[in-house]
Amino acid sequence: MKNILVTGGCGYIGSHTVLSLLENGYFVYVLDSNVNSSPLVIKRLIEIISQKDKGKINNLQFLEGDIRRLENIESIFKTASDNNKKINGVIHFSGLKSIKESINYPLKYWENNVVGSINLLKMMDKYECKTIIFSSSATIYNNFGKEKIKENCSIKPINPYGRNKSTIELFLNDIYESDPINWKIINLRYFNPIGAHCSGKLGENPIGLVNNIFPLILKVASKNINQLKIFGNDWDTRDGTCIRDYIHIMDLANGHIEALKFLQGNNPQILNLNIGTGSGITVLELIKTFERVNNLKIPYSFVGRRKGDMENVVADNSKILEILNWVPKYSLEDMCRDGWNWHLTNPNGY
Ligand code: NAD
Ligand code: UD1
Repeated sequence: MKNILVTGGCGYIGSHTVLSLLENGYFVYVLDSNVNSSPLVIKRLIEIISQKDKGKINNLQFLEGDIRRLENIESIFKTASDNNKKINGVIHFSGLKSIKESINYPLKYWENNVVGSINLLKMMDKYECKTIIFSSSATIYNNFGKEKIKENCSIKPINPYGRNKSTIELFLNDIYESDPINWKIINLRYFNPIGAHCSGKLGENPIGLVNNIFPLILKVASKNINQLKIFGNDWDTRDGTCIRDYIHIMDLANGHIEALKFLQGNNPQILNLNIGTGSGITVLELIKTFERVNNLKIPYSFVGRRKGDMENVVADNSKILEILNWVPKYSLEDMCRDGWNWHLTNPNGY
């Protein structure tokens, strides 16, 4: 399986995964509307890859297009077939991801995320491409316990974004059941990706309001905002702040390569896989590590709990460790160092 379509390949997770794909010898088609990313990502990818292996720069093709428009998706499948480089598999990142926006604009979210995914699957079906890795999320679990989360924990999303993700998983399940002899599907349920590629050329480039903790820490570190507001210090955890499973973006990217290899080498099936390190880190531990590694201060204060927040969201990653040839290699220190390096090199993003 050599020719891969990456939807949303200019985004945070997509761009790092495209780099891993190129490094692993794949031919990559990127389809992205750039609604939440910059087309300059493609230039950066070419810069990085040409430093290692100039020949590989011809293995990347970008088409600006929207998955809400069937003709945009069709054009990439058709071009690929016409050029004898038929798409063999898809990694489907494109989607909108703000919880808050999804609550205020459910139509926009259902159309973009769910209708967009239906369009993509229609075209995959038409062009007989029956391998897909879907970007799902730990957000579908709504976990209130203290245990690590297993794939068979109950799925109870509490906002439209989460319901989009669980609906797409259900839809993919139906697609699989309709033709189990051919479909190969993995729903990768991401925990909290942070950090950046070590070159400083790729990283997270949030457009609009920033809500997630790591980009906010970067903003405080660079004095763009005065302090971090920590949502609650009265949680039942070792220091009173919430626990998450932070995973280095390159470990997450490499997980997609291993997922592809697994699908390629095995019988048709559908799999749900958590992808996280399995280690829980509190908000204060994250801040302290960031301060120590980068030798700077992150001023913070405690505010009330955020609506819908969960105390403890940590992957039980035993299934992915067992099934794929994948182990997370990077430490929390690496995540903090590489993330800050990206910000220092690109204070205004791309
Ligand atoms: P991102 O916003 O950086 O990347 C998404 C990309 O999809 C962007 O480049 C955007 O321009 C593109 N896109 C959006 N709608 C599109 C459309 N209709 N047509 C074509 N392109 C479109 O987000 P990310 O953090 O890289 O996340 C990638 C995927 O992973 C998303 O589906 C997200 O829901 C999921 N996810 C992310 C996280 C996280 O913490 N970042 C966690 C769990 C799941
Ligand atoms: C959030 C979303 C989740 C989504 C994920 C990735 C909520 C409730 N959950 O998850 O659905 O999949 O982003 O996009 O919005 N924190 C602070 N102060 C801040 C920001 C965050 O203390 O200003 C804390 C939070 O309480 C949490 C941790 O930092 O404990 C991580 O927060 P965040 O980066 O928003 O990720 P999640 O809450 O895991």
